[in-house]
Amino acid sequence: MPDKSILIVDADNASLNFLTRMVKDQGHFVMGANSGKEGLLIIWRDRPDLIIFDPSLQDVSPEDFLRKLRRDLRSTDIPILALSSSHNPGLKETCLQAGCNEYVLKSGEIVATLPEVIARLLGVKQELIKEGGHLIVFLSAKGGTGTSSLCANLAMAIHHSKPESSVVVVDMVLPIGSIAPIVGYQGELDLVSVTELSPGKTTEEYFRSRLPVMEVWQFQLLAGAPDPERANDLKIARIPEVIKALQSSYDYVIVDLGRSLSRISLPIIQKADLLVLIMSTDQSTITLTKKILDYLHAQGIDSRNIYAILNRAVGLEGLTKTEAEKIIGLPIKSTLPYMGSNFALANNLNQPIILKYPEDSASIVFRDVASDMIKTANSLRSR
Ligand SMILES: Nc1ncnc2c1ncn2[C@@H]1O[C@H](COP(=O)(O)OP(=O)(O)OP(=O)(O)O)[C@@H](O)[C@H]1O
Ligand SMILES: [Mg+2]
Repeated sequence: MPDKSILIVDADNASLNFLTRMVKDQGHFVMGANSGKEGLLIIWRDRPDLIIFDPSLQDVSPEDFLRKLRRDLRSTDIPILALSSSHNPGLKETCLQAGCNEYVLKSGEIVATLPEVIARLLGVKQELIKEGGHLIVFLSAKGGTGTSSLCANLAMAIHHSKPESSVVVVDMVLPIGSIAPIVGYQGELDLVSVTELSPGKTTEEYFRSRLPVMEVWQFQLLAGAPDPERANDLKIARIPEVIKALQSSYDYVIVDLGRSLSRISLPIIQKADLLVLIMSTDQSTITLTKKILDYLHAQGIDSRNIYAILNRAVGLEGLTKTEAEKIIGLPIKSTLPYMGSNFALANNLNQPIILKYPEDSASIVFRDVASDMIKTANSLRSR
């Protein structure tokens, strides 16, 4: 795998020289730095494909070093390997929590094992290229707009419209997921427990065979964090690989992000085939949505990948579709009627709308939107 650039940051010169030679011998272009400050300068200037660092730096704590990298858009998605000379057991946890992808102890064995680790981590970066199953991400600017309900129901409708396709729904809303109560899942397997598994375990085969099948919904579910305490255990750096494995296993990977727009979700948003933006008709939601859109555009998201839906557009007071479009500066692809208490009732019974109320106009909209999403996502890929 030639012409990949790798930066090694190590305060120990002998170790830096040894590693540089070894990684060069694997055919990579290698840069070196022996302080955190020099490392950050090189990273933000040259954007290497992989960062290898020894957490025992003298000028910066590993936490600060990693946080700076993860918070800055120039480095938020660069894979980071901690190659540590320290046997402090808490350090591994600290590094993984702060955003490093893998933590490996320096030992005689790294000569044999490092090439495989490097190859795997270089693969993490490449997933920015859109490939594998379609990634459809639901988000909103405000709570209670119906993001989770629409996410579950449209995922179901996508399978309904293309029965031969495989669909997985991933609940990434922090600190508590809400797809599980909508579809009636009570098991233990969730996003947090999956990210705690070692990278070798979360294979395509693992997801296909282990994720629960939600029978009437006809999708498999990767449930969200069950409570805020468990959400704190989430290994954020593992999420891109998990999403990648899911895209290799399923035709449609449908993610509920809710309002959680953050550095955790940004890499997923950037890879999404469709960003489904759910709005309600009240002025404050629409104004906030405009802010989110400005942010997404600043991050280089193409408007064509944004799929705006106005929920509760008929049957309740609020702005019209045209008024909302004027404010957000984007066409609204679909409007969903207000269903009164029927929607909450279906949710409470863990039933999809198109099964519980097949004749309701909302069910017709769900079916239409699902097939339009499939078409749009396809045509964007072949663009
Ligand atoms: N079109 C609709 N008609 C009637 N009720 C609706 C409609 N859309 C959503 N609801 C109801 O609104 C409530 C909130 O929906 P939901 O939990 O899906 O929103 P959310 O945006 O995911 O909220 P949160 O911010 O809590 O994640 C639910 O009780 C749902 O049944
Ligand atoms: Mg929700």
